[in-house]
Amino acid sequence: MKALVQTGYGSVDVLQYQEVDKPLPRSNEVLVKVCATAINDWDCVLKPSWFFRLFIGLLRPRGKFRTMGCDVAGVVESVGKEVTGFTPGDAVYGDLSGYNFGGFAEYVCVSEKHVAPMPANISFELAAALPHAAELALQAIQAAPPLSAGQQVLVNGAGGGVGTLLIQLLKSRGVETTGVDRPGKLPLLQSLGYDHVIEYPKENIIRLGKPYDLIIDTKTSEPARGYLHILKPGGCYVTVGGDKAGWVFVLGLLINRFTSRKLKLVALKPNRNLARITELVEAGELQPTIDRVYPFSEIPSALTRFERAEHQGKIIIKVA
Ligand SMILES: NC(=O)c1ccc[n+]([C@@H]2O[C@H](COP(=O)([O-])OP(=O)(O)OC[C@H]3O[C@@H](n4cnc5c(N)ncnc54)[C@H](OP(=O)(O)O)[C@@H]3O)[C@@H](O)[C@H]2O)c1
Repeated sequence: MKALVQTGYGSVDVLQYQEVDKPLPRSNEVLVKVCATAINDWDCVLKPSWFFRLFIGLLRPRGKFRTMGCDVAGVVESVGKEVTGFTPGDAVYGDLSGYNFGGFAEYVCVSEKHVAPMPANISFELAAALPHAAELALQAIQAAPPLSAGQQVLVNGAGGGVGTLLIQLLKSRGVETTGVDRPGKLPLLQSLGYDHVIEYPKENIIRLGKPYDLIIDTKTSEPARGYLHILKPGGCYVTVGGDKAGWVFVLGLLINRFTSRKLKLVALKPNRNLARITELVEAGELQPTIDRVYPFSEIPSALTRFERAEHQGKIIIKVA
């Protein structure tokens, strides 16, 4: 089978399509014929820091990090002898980031615990957009105190995979929403239902000073203490990622004990709510926003588009 193998670090030139052995499922695994995958931060490891390289390989990615790709949607081709939940022919989807990656390939083996039956009413391309981003969106909301109608919620970095799903989950809770992103992405935010939009980097949410009940950030970029100034008493700031997200966790250890305002960092638990995501999609309450669909042979171009942050919503790869 064909797989995209990363042979070093630097530019997309280190990515090579290679003929590799089709994997065999272990007893607890299913072999999935990948129909579609999506691009996420995890998959874009062309220029990792030296610290990160300690974990994934100093000079080149090793082991499971050689073929990235965490979101997959596809069809079960065969199952290990202890698998009870799936049979060949089942359509499944899941996030492999907590397992072994490998979605940038024609086939991948994954523990049956890391996939779920795909929503019945959507294509493989739409399904591949969901596991990683929708889990981050749901787990960010779950990390915050319960929302009440009319509360003010801000989503920073609202035009990417997570923010375009978050708005749908927030709208159903009756809150007033503000989305922040680059000017070119603001029309999309308005069309998805954000009540207000803020243009970054021209405007800075901390300097604007408007307080919110909940802030969800996909790209924490300011010093953590700044967010405290734009939280109402009892308000909560939740980050799922960004350069300074770690400081949110550190400051939160202190702040969360002694003040009514909360600072939280979501550590993704892959696939925890997949059954709930399937329900929402089948009920027509959650639909991913697709930026572009690339053929399998063009993953390097898709990664370049993602690295340049030209995408709005999810970039999808059609594999089979
Ligand atoms: N917590 C965990 O366990 C975990 C696990 C996996 C991934 N993650 C993280 O979760 C996040 C996933 O978000 P996503 O998939 O929605 O990312 P995405 O598709 O890259 O979207 C992020 C959006 O935020 C915008 N943005 C960047 N910096 C900004 C700023 N300072 N202010 C406002 N907007 C800004 C980006 O636009 P421009 O780039 O054009 O500026 C982009 O439109 C990533 O940060 C990822 O690293 C977390």
